Amino acid sequence: MKIKLPVMAALGLASIGHCAEPQPTLKEAFQNYFLIGAALNANQFSERDSRGAAIVKAQFNTITPENVLKWEAVHSEPDKYDFEPGDQYVKFGEKNGMFVIGHTLVWHNQTPRWVFRDGEGKQLTREALLKRMQDHIQKVVGRYKGRIKGWDVVNEALNEDGTMRRSLWLTIIGDDYLQKAFEFAQEADPAAELYYNDFALENAPKRKGAIELVKKLMAAGVHLKGVGLQNHDRMDWPTSQQLGDTIEAFAKLGLQVMITELDVDVLPRAARPGSADVSLKVAGSTSMNPYTNGLPDSVQQALAKRYGELFSVLIAHHANVKRVTFWGVTDADSWLNSWPVRGRTSYPLLFDREGKPKPAFDAVMKAATAGDSKAPARTETQ
Ligand code: XIL
Repeated sequence: MKIKLPVMAALGLASIGHCAEPQPTLKEAFQNYFLIGAALNANQFSERDSRGAAIVKAQFNTITPENVLKWEAVHSEPDKYDFEPGDQYVKFGEKNGMFVIGHTLVWHNQTPRWVFRDGEGKQLTREALLKRMQDHIQKVVGRYKGRIKGWDVVNEALNEDGTMRRSLWLTIIGDDYLQKAFEFAQEADPAAELYYNDFALENAPKRKGAIELVKKLMAAGVHLKGVGLQNHDRMDWPTSQQLGDTIEAFAKLGLQVMITELDVDVLPRAARPGSADVSLKVAGSTSMNPYTNGLPDSVQQALAKRYGELFSVLIAHHANVKRVTFWGVTDADSWLNSWPVRGRTSYPLLFDREGKPKPAFDAVMKAATAGDSKAPARTETQ
């Protein structure tokens, strides 16, 4: 029997574009575990991509802006802020009752060169750069005060060996640049949740560095609420053990843990596992782009299994996982079609190029159901 649309809505069911049968959604399946979300591009939150927007509204209850709130996008010149896309993004989230995230305030990438120089092209002093950072944070966080609920304040401050990345933020301001960024964000919106976000923290040396870093921030008294694990994953990285241990290591410090940029790459490896260094560029070749005509069934099934395993780990640790966000909605939108090799055909998400749920979607839903049967639904909110 076909269920009519209003009835489906009443049952909390949604049909995903193509299929007539109603299908439970991700946000329903994970309601007892964590928020579930996606990073959106401008076509999605403006609803020019109506199919993408429909998937987002049906499936997710939290969103992250993929690019529009990065420094180069929102503040491309010293006296020029462009808030139009950001405003539209936040409105989309509010209209749809979503937990709206801001990404990101202080980063070494997608930040214009002028940020670090004066009018004559000379490198700024510590004081001048701090002032510039403060102005930027005040303007951007202040604009969305009370509306953007959580901010990735600093992104990717660490090297792979756990030492501090020698970005211009570090070399000009010094070690305390993170503390300052958090203080400025806190001043601009005392109620917003503030996060440190990075990739590959599942690798022991980098995790150790991150633990030291967040302990230092906490000792300095800043309002650090949580740590974002990007999770640009591969089929064999991170292991379940690495992921579980990393979640617990940060939770033990009293921090929330979020999976902030989840995708799983099945293409031939072109970067160090877990790396998400956006400045990396690798030359392409046919062998680096093997699935231009579709994903072989064996790989499709392996990807589904991998997603199922990852979600079993996240569910097992759900008491300490506040949110799980995918980095994109459909495979067509993913940044992995152009990073680190341009022009590849990538398959890292739960929805295919037509916006249809993939076997990986079913595997993730199944992991939620299996979790439900093990643990009774929790009544308190996380
Ligand atoms: C990526 C976007 O997806 C791309 O569109 C952009 O060209 C480069 O940045 N880690 C992060 C994200 O924190 O902001 C990056 O997003 C992916 C890696």
